[in-house]
Amino acid sequence: MRKEEKRMIQIAIDGPSGAGKSTLAKALAARLGIVYVDTGALYRTVGYYVRSQDQNPRDEAAVSALLPQITIELKYENGAQRVLLNGEDLGDKIRTPEMSMYASAVSSLPAVRSFLLDTQRNIAKKNSVIMDGRDIGTVILPNADVKVFLTASDECRARRRVAELAEKGITDTFENVLADMRARDKADSTRAVAPAVAAPDAVVFDNSEYSFEECVEHLLHLVYEKTGVTEVCRA
Ligand code: DC
Repeated sequence: MRKEEKRMIQIAIDGPSGAGKSTLAKALAARLGIVYVDTGALYRTVGYYVRSQDQNPRDEAAVSALLPQITIELKYENGAQRVLLNGEDLGDKIRTPEMSMYASAVSSLPAVRSFLLDTQRNIAKKNSVIMDGRDIGTVILPNADVKVFLTASDECRARRRVAELAEKGITDTFENVLADMRARDKADSTRAVAPAVAAPDAVVFDNSEYSFEECVEHLLHLVYEKTGVTEVCRA
């Protein structure tokens, strides 16, 4: 394909926690040579700041008052996303179970969602992206070329989350993780603003029974089928 025929593409991957969105999206981004955007990290970063200021993450007035103090930048190095909060790279500090709950709480506040909207849309304006989150196909990129709503059984998702936490040196029991995950999914999918639901034009993919490689191949075929391109423009 000639260079001028390449075009920007947008791929939206939504779904509940632990469905495998980030691992799959990262692998697809590498295969397609496009930017992977982990939008959950943005909500986690706001949650982290709210926690650091000892504020209640459900108190919209208190959280809104903090937003002007927050600058979030996304940096990409060798395909890896780094999130800077007021210039500081928080690394895995935003990945703890406590930060998951803070992120979920602040993400139900309209003020936080509009605060993070432009950051997300601006990346997709400048780059071909695969973005994972909860409202990418419904709100952030409603015209995305490919929309996937990724799911897996609760038990399967909890097992994966325990392993993922263990890799980061965080130990938690299967029962705790399952209970936290169910509480968070319920809050995320029933909230008034941008609930985590499949867009009407999303392909729903339950990947409980598939190997990682099978999932990657399945989604790559979907991308090729929906976009008609096998080569995309990075930026
Ligand atoms: O994907 P994650 O587990 O890192 O997301 C953390 C929380 O942020 C999740 O419970 C819901 C919220 N979130 C959201 O509301 N919208 C997004 N696009 C991404 C995450």
